[in-house]
Amino acid sequence: MKTAIIYMSSHGTVTKIVKQLASQLSGEIQLYNVRENKQVDIEHSDRVIIGGSIHGGKIQNGIRQFCEENQKNLVTKELGLFICCFYEGPKAIQQLKDAYPTMLHKHAKAETIMGGEFRLQKLNPFERFLVKRIAKTTSDIDKLDRQAFQNFVSAMEKAS
Ligand SMILES: Cc1cc2nc3c(=O)[nH]c(=O)nc-3n(C[C@H](O)[C@H](O)[C@H](O)COP(=O)(O)O)c2cc1C
Repeated sequence: MKTAIIYMSSHGTVTKIVKQLASQLSGEIQLYNVRENKQVDIEHSDRVIIGGSIHGGKIQNGIRQFCEENQKNLVTKELGLFICCFYEGPKAIQQLKDAYPTMLHKHAKAETIMGGEFRLQKLNPFERFLVKRIAKTTSDIDKLDRQAFQNFVSAMEKAS
C-alpha cells in the first residue's frame, strides 16, 4: 500500500499531524508539502490523504487548487481529508465542508477535524492581534483532538 500525504501548514500544526500520521499508517508513505513542492505525484499511490489549516474561515489556496485540479484522479483513490482549526462544533463542521469539493467529501473514506493550536511566538503582530480576538487569549493554546486523530488513522487503515 502506497500513501501520498498532501498538505499545507502555516505555523506548524498540520506538519506535526502529518508526521504523526506518517509514523502510524502502514505501508510506504510519501509526504508532499504543497508550499514547497508543486510536483505532486499521486499516480502511483493507492491512498491519498489531504490536510490543511483554516485561516479567516478558509483552507490554504494551494490545497483548494490541488483538489480542484485533481478531483477526477482523487476519486479513484482511498481518500482521507482533514483540517486543523480552532473552532469546534457546527462552525468547524462548516469549515471542513467548505474546505474541500463536494465530490471529494462524497468519496472520502474518512474525514476529520483535528483541532488546532496557537503558538503565539510563531505569529506576526497582526496574526497575534487576530488570535486575541478569535481565541481571547494571550498565551499558547493546544486544542488538538487526539481522539479524532486516532479515529482517522483507524478508519484509513480499515480494509475497503
Ligand atoms: C491569523 C489566524 C487566523 C485563524 N483563523 C481561523 C478561523 O477562521 N477558523 C478557525 O477555526 N481557526 C482559525 N485559526 C486557527 C488555526 O486554524 C490553527 O491555529 C491551526 O492549528 C493552524 O495550523 P497550521 O499551523 O498548520 O497552519 C486561525 C489562526 C490564525 C493564526
